[in-house]
Amino acid sequence: MDAKPKQANMPAVANRFDNLGVGFAPYLQPPPDGVIRWTVGEPGFPTPEPVISTAVSELMAGKTKYTRGQGSPKLCEAVANHLLKTSKIKAKSENVLITPGAKQALLYSYMSTLNPGDEAILLSPAWASYEPMISIIGGIPVNVPVNRTNFHPDMDALRSSITDRTRVIMVNSPCNPTGAVYTREEIEEIVSIAIQHDLWIISDEIYSRLIWNGTEHVSPATVDGGEGRTIVVSGWSKTWAMTGMRIGFLTGPDPIVRAAVKCQANSASHIPTFMMEAARVALDCDDHVERFSDAYRHRRDLMLRGLGDIPGLRIVNPEGAFYLFIDVTETGLSDVEFAEGAMEAGVQLIPASLITGGEGFIRVSYAASEEDIIEGIRRLKSWLL
Ligand SMILES: Cc1ncc(COP(=O)(O)O)c(C=O)c1O
Repeated sequence: MDAKPKQANMPAVANRFDNLGVGFAPYLQPPPDGVIRWTVGEPGFPTPEPVISTAVSELMAGKTKYTRGQGSPKLCEAVANHLLKTSKIKAKSENVLITPGAKQALLYSYMSTLNPGDEAILLSPAWASYEPMISIIGGIPVNVPVNRTNFHPDMDALRSSITDRTRVIMVNSPCNPTGAVYTREEIEEIVSIAIQHDLWIISDEIYSRLIWNGTEHVSPATVDGGEGRTIVVSGWSKTWAMTGMRIGFLTGPDPIVRAAVKCQANSASHIPTFMMEAARVALDCDDHVERFSDAYRHRRDLMLRGLGDIPGLRIVNPEGAFYLFIDVTETGLSDVEFAEGAMEAGVQLIPASLITGGEGFIRVSYAASEEDIIEGIRRLKSWLL
């Protein structure tokens, strides 16, 4: 008798995974040795030392057991103070939920606002994980194209995409992948549309401290009428170079936070206990944040100068975050062909047709080191010029 279970008898995987996208994942794998990586949205800097030493001493002090699921009261209070100081957001510390990365906070936000069949509007091209995350919980992502010349929202398109199933408008400013930073007027208009149609706004503000065009970060939570309907999501990954530590948070109106706390209580429980104090210490590391920001600004300028004189590339100056979203259609290559050619030339970058609305564009991360930026530009030029 054959003891091996037959493949045909295997139970089916839940159908929510049928056709579920994986965004940029295929291009985020480490490339072969010697290829320059312009793909990952990860700060190349080491995590600030005070964060590491606090995490280590907390570990040594035995902070390794279960703790308050929502986050330590000290950390939640520090996040509330930080939001007020940096973004003028008035959050109650009891409404701050510390999560394993901003990603988990986004998932809880969708779970707390969308019933199966409900629609969430994405200003597209949008960050690659929103769409599959909404789909995985039975929601329907509705991609509304942004203005192609500057990547800012097209308000008429936004208005006309609203149906009686719409529940959420997703805002991500500064934006990954486009680098757009929405103006105060645009945020006010989005809030007024949300009020008119009684919608939630989920505002992913993970790049809020990385703005290069001299404007301020405007959270919908700070605009008249926005406070009661905005869920603010952010995290430590980008600002403090803490991607692998997996810490994020959300805050918002009472009923949403109560629902999100239930999501976490019944899934992740909480972030690692020894990281609570380390995350709090990070919030005081402003000197590091400024140093990182200066470096990104410089790297952005290097990229713009270096790629700016390659014919066929249409580059919109990124206003924030650390990405260039480049239209390559005039090179005569599709974005996938361009990415393949770049790979042969020794530079890994992302063809944006992997996400809805990204056809014809490539995404470049300038979180890469200065040496990699300079050498990557040299390689692309010797391929294309
Ligand atoms: C727009 C946006 N939101 C959220 C995240 C995820 O952040 P975290 O590492 O905190 O889960 C990313 C990471 O690339 C991002 O670009």
